Amino acid sequence: MLRVAVLVSGRGSNLQALIDAVAAKELAVDIVVVGSNKVAAEGLRRAEAAGIATFALDPAGYADRAGYDREFFERLGEYAPDLVVLAGFMRVIDPAALAPWIGRVINIHPSLLPKYAGLKTHARALAAGDARHGASVHYVTAELDGGPVIAQVDLAIEPGDTPDSLATRLLPLEHRLLRQCVAWIADGKVALAGERVHVDGVARDVPPLV
Ligand code: GAR
Repeated sequence: MLRVAVLVSGRGSNLQALIDAVAAKELAVDIVVVGSNKVAAEGLRRAEAAGIATFALDPAGYADRAGYDREFFERLGEYAPDLVVLAGFMRVIDPAALAPWIGRVINIHPSLLPKYAGLKTHARALAAGDARHGASVHYVTAELDGGPVIAQVDLAIEPGDTPDSLATRLLPLEHRLLRQCVAWIADGKVALAGERVHVDGVARDVPPLV
């Protein structure tokens, strides 16, 4: 069974969606560890409640990003994950620490990438007057929120929407998207080959909406 590590920095509702899907036997993966850069992250408590191993490393004790990330990924490696899911993990990973893991790390990002890499995505979609907003799951590369997209979800922006209302409507769609993408990877349907997503062994550049 695919060994999955999940990295969180906060609430952990996407992590919870994966935990619940595994418990309901809708997702056949083994969540072997949940790691965080925040000792107090609610996601760590969710993992503990589900009996999943956890670790937290506080960046405060490290001189630089490279040293912290090297140690963080060494700790992660002890659990031998096949797949690392960034689920609200709010750190940019040092390229040298990430390099050996490329192709095994995915991230969920609350925008229709390539639009709105980085932060405040809901406010930026509203400010731009977009008709639609959404979320993407993508392979993590050295470029911030820039790796190949596996799949997306979208929704209509309604008159009167605020960043909070958009975030609230998007969240359950994010949960579905993340479960779907992890299931595809567990089934061997989706993989990163070079710089492109392959689906059933065939390169695909236009990500599906799910
Ligand atoms: C989610 O909306 C996720 O898309 C976003 O953080 C939230 C985490 O929620 N991720 C990013 O913004 C990454 N740049 P959760 O902790 O409840 O899963």
